[in-house]
Amino acid sequence: MPKAIQIQQFGGPEQLQLVDVNVGEPGPGEVRIRHHACGLNYIDIYQRTGLYQGALPLTLGMEAAGVVEAIGEGVTHLAPGMRVAYASQPPGAYCEVRVMPARCVVQLPDGIDFETGAAMMLKGLTVQYLLRKTQPQGGLQPGDPVLFHAAAGGVGLIACQWARSMGLQLIGTAGSDEKCALAREMGAAHVINYKTEDIVARVKEITGGRGVKVVYDSIGKDTWEASLDCLRPLGLMVTYGNASGPVPPFSVGTLAAKGSLYVTRPTLFTHLATRESTQAMADDLFGMVTSGQVKIRIDQRYPLADVAQAHRDLEARKTTGSTVLLP
Ligand SMILES: NC(=O)c1ccc[n+]([C@@H]2O[C@H](COP(=O)([O-])OP(=O)(O)OC[C@H]3O[C@@H](n4cnc5c(N)ncnc54)[C@H](OP(=O)(O)O)[C@@H]3O)[C@@H](O)[C@H]2O)c1
Repeated sequence: MPKAIQIQQFGGPEQLQLVDVNVGEPGPGEVRIRHHACGLNYIDIYQRTGLYQGALPLTLGMEAAGVVEAIGEGVTHLAPGMRVAYASQPPGAYCEVRVMPARCVVQLPDGIDFETGAAMMLKGLTVQYLLRKTQPQGGLQPGDPVLFHAAAGGVGLIACQWARSMGLQLIGTAGSDEKCALAREMGAAHVINYKTEDIVARVKEITGGRGVKVVYDSIGKDTWEASLDCLRPLGLMVTYGNASGPVPPFSVGTLAAKGSLYVTRPTLFTHLATRESTQAMADDLFGMVTSGQVKIRIDQRYPLADVAQAHRDLEARKTTGSTVLLP
């Protein structure tokens, strides 16, 4: 029987269990995919701990690449034997083979291998909607400064390169000098080690006292206040993750006091709501990767059965770039 990684209850990495699963035939609008590689994402940790709650038992995982085995009625954009990849809800990518909605799945270009596909879909599509579509009033122009936290992570290293290709001055933060050097090498115009340096003071110094137009913040609780203080008047705060814990409740009056700021709390899955939007965003991402403007770094690989160790390493901030799990 095919294997999958499930949790029976929310908790630590020890909850991740290898189990046998029944995988049936795809129904209308569905596809069955045999995975060659699965992606690891920070959202998997929120789902494992119960910060984001799904129905139990739950097979985790939201990103993978593989080959189509069968399609259900009404599926016209996929065919058996096709190489594909996806970032999707519902979770369920930590497995050898699965049935899922075909709407989320796109054909993988010939020049992109399975591991790269699994390492780039959720993270790369996130960077696509953040940098291209989550912009301040008046948009972003070449030369504009933006602050991007966790710049040496999976999403972060893609963002460094994508921002450079747009001509943006990305100021990246990271938790060690080594990670800062990596973010710089991958396209960050400036870097801040937020374990040893004051984020606000450094951003003010880099921007000649003006602050940045946008902050892309996936850290949440620990960086919320500093991030607001790095924005120039009318700047945009994009809070899109909770690696340190969720942003605490705040008074909207704070936004007026700090310069009529804008705040948004987006999720990739709003942007992937239709097959058309998913394909358009994927085409943009594939273009960035096949043209060499964005290189997908896979800095960690684990057998799927060792996913608990992968979660421990991600939570302990030991990883850089993308991580793949191999079924
Ligand atoms: N809303 C969306 O649409 C969306 C989509 C995708 C991802 N995300 C979010 O984007 C973030 C990045 O995702 P990813 O999968 O690429 O992960 P990642 O950036 O590779 O890993 C998370 C990084 O966060 C930093 N971090 C800071 N404080 C931390 C803490 N207390 N505990 C753990 N890590 C901490 C660490 O880097 P340093 O050591 O450098 O601090 C760590 O490596 C996550 O918060 C994720 O939830 C959101």
